[in-house]
Amino acid sequence: MEEPILKVENLEVGVKKDTGFMNIVNNISFFLKKGETLGIVGESGCGKSMTSLSIMDLTPASVSLKSGKILLKDKDLTAMRKNERRKVRGKEIAMIFQEPMTSLNPVYTIGYQIVEMIRNHQNMTKKQAYQHALNMLQLVGIPRADEILHEYPHQLSGGMRQRVMIAMVLSCSPEILIADEPTTALDVTIQAQILELMKSLQEEMNMSIILITHDLGVVAEMCDRVVVMYAGEIVEESEVHELFENPKHPYTKGLLESLPDVDEDREYLSSIKGTVPSPSEMPEGCRFAPRCAFASEKCQEDPPVFRVNQKSSCKCWLFEDSTAE
Ligand SMILES: Nc1ncnc2c1ncn2[C@@H]1O[C@H](COP(=O)(O)OP(=O)(O)OP(=O)(O)O)[C@@H](O)[C@H]1O
Ligand SMILES: [Mg+2]
Repeated sequence: MEEPILKVENLEVGVKKDTGFMNIVNNISFFLKKGETLGIVGESGCGKSMTSLSIMDLTPASVSLKSGKILLKDKDLTAMRKNERRKVRGKEIAMIFQEPMTSLNPVYTIGYQIVEMIRNHQNMTKKQAYQHALNMLQLVGIPRADEILHEYPHQLSGGMRQRVMIAMVLSCSPEILIADEPTTALDVTIQAQILELMKSLQEEMNMSIILITHDLGVVAEMCDRVVVMYAGEIVEESEVHELFENPKHPYTKGLLESLPDVDEDREYLSSIKGTVPSPSEMPEGCRFAPRCAFASEKCQEDPPVFRVNQKSSCKCWLFEDSTAE
């Protein structure tokens, strides 16, 4: 198998407290291959955003990395100095957010911001960068791109802003794109267009994508492999077909059983009773056990990750007969 382009190993992220370190992300490991799309799914508060912000080194000030490695090819990002890390950001790994206004600056024109981004990472004259910005806007399907370059973010619709942000992050041809709920705030038609756009740009650039989403329909449409997160941990990792046809973890099954009504996409978890525990009140042993229909005595002990077959692994005692990883 080709070496993964990105490997996250035993990552622990959390908040320093007087009483000790409170984990938000607890010892997670996963990898991303060249050209593939990896989905990260899980209920609100499971640590999806903290995981991706850690990869970007963009976590809020109160949140820090406790241990683990983030390997981009052979380089361990966690061992880098801030300024080296900044160079990786944008050029090698870029991120788009749910709300594009978090990455667009309201006081500068679209053109200024894209040109700055390009010139920070690529050796181009202003004129070349401007031309490149124009090409990128056209590539993401923005009409009257030459006019838009002179406009400010607030003059655009949500869908257009999201396209601008995609054009901006892709203008430096990152090898890895992390998209955190990139389309949740958009209406269904625009959402489909943006996803289609990401897919075609991915093919063109052979980019690898980490796609964070609540929407299992989007996962089915876009992803090759999926990581399921629960309460700061990875409870299942599966190839996408395997995940839908033969889900392993009781939590994954719960997610699949509660696929949403079209217009109630935030409600899809109704079939799993209870809520995700907060980082300060994590249950001992298996963190899902208090909500799990299959829980037994054994679950008071924290299960390791078991490799179930070539296509999936699962952190649940039900798969004890498989090999521990
Ligand atoms: N600045 C912060 N300081 C301390 N804890 C935080 C901070 N931001 C988030 N958390 C906690 O970290 C946990 C994981 O949050 P995260 O934003 O990664 O979840 P998520 O899976 O992305 O959820 P969502 O689907 O709602 O975006 C939550 O329990 C949250 O309360
Ligand atoms: Mg999030």
